[in-house]
Amino acid sequence: MAYRIAVLPGDGTGPEVIREGLKVLGAVAEATNFKFETAEYDFGGDRYLRTGETLPDAALAEFKEMDAIYLGAVGHPKVEPGILERGILLKIRFDLDQYINLRPVKLYPGVWTPLKDKGPEDIDFVVVRENTEGLYRGEGSFSRKGTSDEVAEQKMVNTRKGVERCIRYAFQYAQERGRKRKLTLCDKANVLTYAHDLWRRVFEEVGGEYSDIKKDCAFVDAVCMWMVKNPEWFDVIVTCNMFGDIITDLGAMIQGGMGIAAGANINPEGTSMFEPIGGSAPKYTGKNMINPLAAISAAQMMLQHLGEKRGAHLMEEAIVKACQKVKSLSAGKMGYTTTEVGDMVAKFVRGAE
Ligand code: IPM
Ligand code: MG
Repeated sequence: MAYRIAVLPGDGTGPEVIREGLKVLGAVAEATNFKFETAEYDFGGDRYLRTGETLPDAALAEFKEMDAIYLGAVGHPKVEPGILERGILLKIRFDLDQYINLRPVKLYPGVWTPLKDKGPEDIDFVVVRENTEGLYRGEGSFSRKGTSDEVAEQKMVNTRKGVERCIRYAFQYAQERGRKRKLTLCDKANVLTYAHDLWRRVFEEVGGEYSDIKKDCAFVDAVCMWMVKNPEWFDVIVTCNMFGDIITDLGAMIQGGMGIAAGANINPEGTSMFEPIGGSAPKYTGKNMINPLAAISAAQMMLQHLGEKRGAHLMEEAIVKACQKVKSLSAGKMGYTTTEVGDMVAKFVRGAE
């Protein structure tokens, strides 16, 4: 049986990095004996500008039948911010109920980090970001819009079920990961006295079932501080949608930048989506300069999720080797082109067999 993967290269440098990810996936499939087929979709800014369409329901229905979705990037300089993000990326996350956004923050050996005196043993944690609720629901209102008395409200919607399934996933994840066996709840319960009171109560309650996991609560501002000062304190962090968005960009920076950071949008019972977390990087489009390692890492997470353990392991080893070869993880400074980095990782995959 072959895995069926929906491929959405998307905007900007998305297609360039996805091409390399698929190249490496092909090499891994050959080396470890699995098959996959891809169905490519051209959703993104260009299609929107041409047809006015972001993502039709028919496509969503097709995605639900797939084993995974592999996404490049959405975001187009000629499209007003929000249209593609809401119309494509968030629509997939919400409609497919991908309620976990899993974002590893792992510094590979030889990769430069802006944190002085910190190394791979210090920077190795995972952020479990709630992915379908909170401020991202898009609920809110304007009143007296355009006047000097305008009020704009944006609701942070947290459901008991939504919070619980996320926290439960995080505890489970901390247990299976088995590294420090520690889960940190990142919130702002001192200010968000309704929304994050719920998070605290659920954390406490569900935590009761995981006596082997150390529990810790920290306010989001302090988490930012510790991520820079003592990242080794973290093992797994669980947090709401908005805070997860913010702290994972900080996380990406301490693990070497957007050139390496990947994420998984997971529905444990449905179809999940894998993506590099950096954007579409319009200024590098078509230049063969962007780093494809984040997209390759996203494909690696996809294999992990599909249960291709050997392939995922092989792929990670190859990524680690490539990290040691490139001069920098930043676009244009790698000492290699986008295509060459993809070729290199594919070669490492083949060589390891
Ligand atoms: C991310 C991105 C998205 C988010 C944007 C593009 C809507 O920043 O995946 O982190 O905020 O979730
Ligand atoms: Mg983000």
